[in-house]
Amino acid sequence: MQGRTKLSVSDIISKKGKEKLSVLTAYDYSTAKICDSAGIDILLVGDSAAMVVLGYSSTVPVGMQEMMIFCGAVARGTKRAIVVGDMPFGSYQVDPSVAVENAIQMIKSGCDAVKLEGNSEIVDTITAIIDAGIPVMGHIGFRPQTSSLWEGHKLQGRTKEGANKLIEDAIILEKAGVFSIVLEMVTSEVVDAITKSVSIPTIGIGSGPNSDGQVLVLHDMLGIYQDIRPKFVKRYAELNKGIFDAVSTYNHEVKIGMFPGESNTFHMDAKELDKWKNERRV
Ligand code: KIV
Repeated sequence: MQGRTKLSVSDIISKKGKEKLSVLTAYDYSTAKICDSAGIDILLVGDSAAMVVLGYSSTVPVGMQEMMIFCGAVARGTKRAIVVGDMPFGSYQVDPSVAVENAIQMIKSGCDAVKLEGNSEIVDTITAIIDAGIPVMGHIGFRPQTSSLWEGHKLQGRTKEGANKLIEDAIILEKAGVFSIVLEMVTSEVVDAITKSVSIPTIGIGSGPNSDGQVLVLHDMLGIYQDIRPKFVKRYAELNKGIFDAVSTYNHEVKIGMFPGESNTFHMDAKELDKWKNERRV
């Protein structure tokens, strides 16, 4: 178990080039507590909650109200890691001042920073949030909130033009003041170039080993869903099977009267029981 001193955004930046950053998504108190005590550096309250927790088919439907509940729960379960709240679709696109208000709500719910998906086009919004004193994590490459509306789930940075645009965007985001950048589904050559071009940490997902850190969706790496197996995910557990087996055994034991057993049962004090039995005979 890692030391329990709370990390700061500057600690995260200073790990670049010295130590890889471990990032996982978290959406509730119990799993945040486990991830935090296992030494994960950043817990991202991802809008992927829409899919893995709420059962939507994309991240688009989740709103601020739901995200605030997830953010608060994760923050309460976290002592050491930085908690980053993912700003949901619609919470930062309309107007920078609305984005600042929503980012403030996330900080009030217990987050240490917020994340926004977007390239150089959202620099004004990022600047407004940072000017309000809130650390921002960028997110370029594949951006699930909007990329899927245009081109589906596609690897980014496959062409010379695509590669140059991603490097340009990363440099612009760094100049705007973000403390780190998520690179989602980006070719590993371009991740390498971006990581060498910026002085803030890059955090990859589906983007190979060349970033300063890695992020995975908790439910993917724990194998909570039997049928979801993206190529870039390594499964560190098969919890679907573990949970299914446990629940099936419980179901069976309740049906046949095997649970609860003697060790799960409370009894009256023996003297009290005798008195009570005698009275009931009268
Ligand atoms: O919402 C999320 O889980 C994310 C990660 C995939 C980076 O944004």
